[in-house]
Amino acid sequence: MNSPSDPADFGARAAAYVQRLERALDRCLPAQRTDPARLHRAMRYACEGGKRVRALLVYATGETLGLAPDALDSAACAVELIHAYSLVHDDLPAMDDDALRRGRPTVHVAFDEATAILVGDALQALAFGVLAEDAAGLSAERRVRMLAILAQAAGSLGMVGGQAVDLESEGRRIALERLESLHARKTGALLLACCRLAAAAAAADADTEAALCEYGRCLGLAFQVQDDVLDLTADSTALGKTAGKDLAQEKSTYPALLGVDGAREYAQALFARARAALQPLGARAAPLRWLADHVAARKF
Ligand code: IPE
Ligand code: IPE
Ligand code: MG
Ligand code: MG
Ligand code: MG
Repeated sequence: MNSPSDPADFGARAAAYVQRLERALDRCLPAQRTDPARLHRAMRYACEGGKRVRALLVYATGETLGLAPDALDSAACAVELIHAYSLVHDDLPAMDDDALRRGRPTVHVAFDEATAILVGDALQALAFGVLAEDAAGLSAERRVRMLAILAQAAGSLGMVGGQAVDLESEGRRIALERLESLHARKTGALLLACCRLAAAAAAADADTEAALCEYGRCLGLAFQVQDDVLDLTADSTALGKTAGKDLAQEKSTYPALLGVDGAREYAQALFARARAALQPLGARAAPLRWLADHVAARKF
């Protein structure tokens, strides 16, 4: 049997990493009663639940690079804050207009639309604040590099740009290369940033960083291809969000272009590419191999 510290058994430590992330989120979010209380309640609400895949990816990359987790708590927190904000805005009536998220009413339904907009704004600012202030023991130079990585991933050349292309591609048939670039930006960019943030924290050498980036790119794209497949094949209860929305909104998705089986096969090929990218890193990349398998097997 693997011992808890066996690098090959990241799975035995995953629940503890999720708890660690949740404690870090709890520390950095203003208390519910802090004025303006409704906004702070809604910010906390938006950050509850979720699979925490992005935080796990930060910690798994950290383990691969031999970095202690306390050097990565703020990065894990920051990516989950950006992700939570992106979901709150993604669900707004002007975007995907969704009422269900993480098994509960979306923020604009549970609170109101203006609050949901402000929650997203505030979570984004908080993410950068946390990363700037709390990165335990990391030099200012490494922290600035990490801030730049997160800004790039979250901005108009990353997640927000992908969201813009997603909206302008509704009701249209776009080329496969365009779809790939859309998905790589709206979802892939932040997952890639998880690997890049840990690599920057560890000041990884160029070859290691390149391997991690290839892994992160493939995993990030696969994640959104899978999301498209699950939207069609799983139900709302299992997903904790409204199933079947992509068809209803005529979204550009992988199943729309390749069929469900074709999209599934493409996701599997991307997971295989992600694993192959880790080859130069040898046994120390076991946590990232575990994570690729874990994500590949996800049902929601
Ligand atoms: C959902 O992401 C939105 C996408 C970017 C595909 P997750 O599936 O990671 O959502 P949570 O955090 O677990 O709710
Ligand atoms: C969301 O993609 C991507 C971001 C939030 C950046 P989707 O619109 O497919 O995500 P879900 O399906 O609503 O979670
Ligand atoms: Mg969307
Ligand atoms: Mg959506
Ligand atoms: Mg989706």
